[in-house]
Amino acid sequence: MSAPSRYRVARIIGAVIGLAAVVWIVGETLRGDGGRPSQSPKEQLARAKSGEDYHRRVGLAPGMQPAVGTQVRTLQAYYALRAYAGAPPSIPHEVDAEMGRTQDCNICHERGGFVKRFNAYAPVTPHPTYENCLQCHALPGGAESFVANDWQSVRLPILGRPALPGNPPPIPHTLQLRTDCLSCHAGPAAVAEVRTSHPERLNCRQCHVPRMTDDVFVRTAQR
Ligand code: HEC
Ligand code: HEC
Ligand code: HEC
Ligand code: HEC
Repeated sequence: MSAPSRYRVARIIGAVIGLAAVVWIVGETLRGDGGRPSQSPKEQLARAKSGEDYHRRVGLAPGMQPAVGTQVRTLQAYYALRAYAGAPPSIPHEVDAEMGRTQDCNICHERGGFVKRFNAYAPVTPHPTYENCLQCHALPGGAESFVANDWQSVRLPILGRPALPGNPPPIPHTLQLRTDCLSCHAGPAAVAEVRTSHPERLNCRQCHVPRMTDDVFVRTAQR
């Protein structure tokens, strides 16, 4: 091979490598995840549970993403406000005289959203038409008006009982006043442990069937 044609071959090889690099870089950019390494199933689940994709899909403002530093509501905190699972929760925040009179609680509770004053997301009410809120929801304080008694709470529902692994778990609670599933199972104020990974599937009961305990509640002997 003569010297000039050797240079030509080298130039062609150089051009092919350069073109391949350009195609690779453009392809990576267009993939849309900014070249983020692919996520493991565990990471995907954590991301689904964070509601990140849901909020993007329903077009909520970025402010609706759980703000950094806010408490995620846990099942333990959820039960702590209730005498038993399904009982009306007591109000964990102050209610000023004006709010107590007008009961305009739905300003925050009908649609939820971040409330700066309480540094928390307002849980969405499953019954926005029940206007006399204070009829059922006790104001904070007043613990001194209770006397010691032998009340023991009803057994808590058991979670994660699919018929077979991977099946939809049954609904362990009553459906009375609980037809708006998303008010409790999606969004930034939803309890972390029962946040659904698939809020976009609107007909929940297509897959989830109610299965409550058949046992009659019997109060156990006094402690
Ligand atoms: C300014 C917005 C705002 C107003 C007005 C408001 N709330 Fe709240 N509410 C919140 C936020 C935020 C939380 C969550 C607090 C937390 O997690 O510490 C909350 C929590 C609650 C909870 C606890 C729910 C649960 O399951 O944890 C109840 C019950 C409640 N509010 C009832 C009421 C009632 C009744 C009124 C009217 C008298 C009212 N709220 C007015 C923002 C508001
Ligand atoms: C007739 C009684 C009653 C009235 C009136 C009522 N609630 Fe409730 N509320 C309940 C019960 C019971 C629950 C618990 C629901 C459950 O666990 O299925 C509840 C739950 C809630 C929750 C918590 C939802 C969650 O995340 O679990 C909020 C928030 C709430 N109510 C807000 C309000 C507001 C605001 C009003 C007035 C506009 C109101 N409620 C009126 C009985 C009532
Ligand atoms: C008032 C809030 C509320 C509403 C409304 C509600 N849920 Fe729930 N759900 C809960 C809570 C809290 C739990 C945890 C167990 C318990 O305390 O009942 C739960 C548990 C579940 C579970 C079990 C999850 C597991 O990991 O085993 C399923 C499934 C479920 N709910 C489906 C539904 C469907 C479907 C609807 C609508 C028809 C609905 N829920 C409406 C609060 C709610
Ligand atoms: C097409 C069937 C189907 C529909 C519709 C459906 N689910 Fe599920 N759901 C499942 C399956 C399957 C699982 C179990 C997922 C697993 O094991 O990873 C599940 C799990 C859950 C869980 C346990 C936590 C989790 O995400 O793993 C909750 C809570 C839940 N679903 C709530 C809902 C709610 C609320 C709706 C309606 C918005 C709904 N589901 C609609 C099939 C469905």
